[in-house]
Amino acid sequence: MAVAVLSLLFFSLSLFLQPLSSTANIHKTKLLRSELISQATPSSDAPLTTYFEVTKPIKLPRTKPCSYLILQHDFGYTYEKPPVLANYSPPSNCPSHDFAKIVLEWRAICKGTQFDRIFGVWLGGVELLRSCTAEPRATGIVWTVKKDITSSYEPNSDNSVNGYLSGADLILPISRNLPLNDGLWFEIENSTDIESKEFKIPQNAYRAVLEVYVSFHENDEFWYANLPNEYIAANNLTDTPGNGPFREVVVSLDGMVVGAVWPFTVIYTGGVNPLLWRPITGIGSFDLPSYDIEITPFLGTVLDGKPHEFAFSVTNALNVWFIDANLHVWLDKKSQKNEGKLLKHNSLPLLVSLVSNFTGLNGTFLTSVSRSISSTGWVKSSHGTITSNSIQEFDYSNFMVMGNDGNLQIVNQIIDFNDSVSATTPNSCIHSIKSFKRFPLYLYSDDADQGNGTYASLANLTLGYNEDRVKTATFGFSVSSLKNLQNGQGYMLVKDNLVVSGLGSTQQAYRYDGSKFCYFRNVSSSNYTILYDKVDSTCSKRRRSHLGFGLAKWWPPSARRAFLASVSHDNKKLP
Ligand SMILES: *[C@@H]1O[C@H](CO)[C@@H](O)[C@H](O)[C@H]1NC(C)=O
Ligand SMILES: *[C@@H]1O[C@H](CO)[C@@H](O)[C@H](O)[C@H]1NC(C)=O
Ligand SMILES: *[C@@H]1O[C@H](CO)[C@@H](O)[C@H](O)[C@H]1NC(C)=O
Ligand SMILES: *[C@@H]1O[C@H](CO)[C@@H](O)[C@H](O)[C@H]1NC(C)=O
Ligand SMILES: *[C@@H]1O[C@H](CO)[C@@H](O)[C@H](O)[C@H]1NC(C)=O
Ligand SMILES: *[C@@H]1O[C@H](CO)[C@@H](O)[C@H](O)[C@H]1NC(C)=O
Ligand SMILES: *[C@@H]1O[C@H](CO)[C@@H](O)[C@H](O)[C@H]1NC(C)=O
Ligand SMILES: *[C@@H]1O[C@H](CO)[C@@H](O)[C@H](O)[C@H]1NC(C)=O
Ligand SMILES: *[C@@H]1O[C@H](CO)[C@@H](O)[C@H](O)[C@H]1NC(C)=O
Repeated sequence: MAVAVLSLLFFSLSLFLQPLSSTANIHKTKLLRSELISQATPSSDAPLTTYFEVTKPIKLPRTKPCSYLILQHDFGYTYEKPPVLANYSPPSNCPSHDFAKIVLEWRAICKGTQFDRIFGVWLGGVELLRSCTAEPRATGIVWTVKKDITSSYEPNSDNSVNGYLSGADLILPISRNLPLNDGLWFEIENSTDIESKEFKIPQNAYRAVLEVYVSFHENDEFWYANLPNEYIAANNLTDTPGNGPFREVVVSLDGMVVGAVWPFTVIYTGGVNPLLWRPITGIGSFDLPSYDIEITPFLGTVLDGKPHEFAFSVTNALNVWFIDANLHVWLDKKSQKNEGKLLKHNSLPLLVSLVSNFTGLNGTFLTSVSRSISSTGWVKSSHGTITSNSIQEFDYSNFMVMGNDGNLQIVNQIIDFNDSVSATTPNSCIHSIKSFKRFPLYLYSDDADQGNGTYASLANLTLGYNEDRVKTATFGFSVSSLKNLQNGQGYMLVKDNLVVSGLGSTQQAYRYDGSKFCYFRNVSSSNYTILYDKVDSTCSKRRRSHLGFGLAKWWPPSARRAFLASVSHDNKKLP
């Protein structure tokens, strides 16, 4: 049972919130997930341990926020229960309705034994937060997730000059409709499963971006460690998740591939070794990343006032992926109807190569994949005729070693995910955004069966999220760089999916260099205790080291199903 509080902080020129829930479905594989047995006897006066995800602070205006409590709820036994609903109307006690910043704050307290659970927070079907609950200890834990949701909540009010660069005017949910006995996400159960949603876009739209939320569970929780089917078949394995280690989320519009997501390998709070994530949680586990796909080049095909359809699929998927999206739409205040045309669209099939060499349960596997998707189109609006271009380029490599007759697994994976978007008029570049993401993962995991449903596990892990961004606009240029790297070492004795004993140690270095501010944190924990924690906000001298990541080494797994929470809403700005 966890008590959770969802609130919104509005900073004048501020907003909202909601709750969550969970589900569990334990699944045992070589890479398994486990939960720690609470060994101590809870005493009511023991201090709560604060768990956290390392991330840069949200820059806040100096104005005093106006805070709005959306929901306070005791969650427990939520598996396959309907989402918890809270009514929301924009707060009447806030002095202005023009907010510079709106922060969603999720705070929860939990004690005892509980597996990790995925949850979501939606406002009128628009997803605001996807997260994983922390696994408690006997004496209790508390954790807080803060997310800047300004652009999801408060459409841009200053559209006069160049709305192109500010928040959207309208956000359309591309999610399942209530009522549901589950989350609002679509569930993708296998590689041929396609889930879709019809939508209609106002005819005066001039820009559109699809923000995609993704999480992977059960047989695909550790997709990057899944084995090739030929290995599974040759060894007569049952209950071992297969389809190899490559996954990609494909997004189509009326049957046309408009973009893809090669997701970051979020490790949930029970993953690999739950002792690694106390109190420093895995990168992205409290606030899963979402991914933007530029739809503007395709606007010409959807501005006819008729229903169109977004569809999601996952290459090589095993049960189950949770996916939904928010369509951010910019509207032309001075026009009723815009027109546009798709000029060029290229989506080449995946290039996949697998080199495998195994004898019995020992072997090596190298999987390499690449792909590119590009599109160009124009839209004629009161801003003129703007040509937009979007290019996604992906590269993937996964080297896997199986040793000790299948008890040892080493995975070394790198995903490169480059996006570039530009908007130009015949005379000038209105804006361009380039993003270079690199996700390294190294996992070393060695399991020794002790009989009796008990095994000893040793796991070392490196997990990185790196992103360089370059933005140019008519009036300026900005560059940012994020390097976020975790190393973990753990051992544990697991009986019937419960951790009986063990130790986890984690070191994390986070460096963000932006044009407005910089943030550095170097923190380490072992056995629940912080060993060092240094924070610095001076900017590093080498402001732009392009993708200078070290080689990653890496790691193993766990399972779940999920559940969610939701907010009904009464906000004119959201559909
Ligand atoms: C894939 O999942 C869909 C949706 O659950 C189901 O209808 C279909 O039969 C499944 N296909 C296979 C090959 O299992
Ligand atoms: C797998 O099963 C087949 C058929 O039962 C058997 O011939 C083969 O020896 C088995 N292989 C292994 C590695 O157990
Ligand atoms: C396959 O593995 C075996 C045993 O490790 C090794 O002797 C052999 O050279 C490998 N073959 C290839 C093509 O890598
Ligand atoms: C992504 O961009 C980086 C930096 O320009 C480049 O080195 C890398 O080859 C690119 N990767 C792909 C898949 O385009
Ligand atoms: C697999 O590798 C281990 C060492 O990692 C070795 O002891 C074992 O004999 C190998 N098994 C086979 C079938 O070659
Ligand atoms: C298996 O479990 C039983 C009961 O917990 C215990 O008596 C026995 O010693 C265990 N055997 C091993 C090999 O651990
Ligand atoms: C795992 O990490 C521990 C602690 O740093 C180290 O002693 C050990 O050699 C590592 N093992 C592997 C296989 O990387
Ligand atoms: C973080 O601090 C540790 C301990 O002081 C140090 O060894 C390490 O080099 C630091 N890492 C970075 C990236 O500064
Ligand atoms: C972890 O810390 C507890 C006390 O908080 C201690 O009893 C235990 O021995 C420590 N574990 C290890 C492996 O150091």
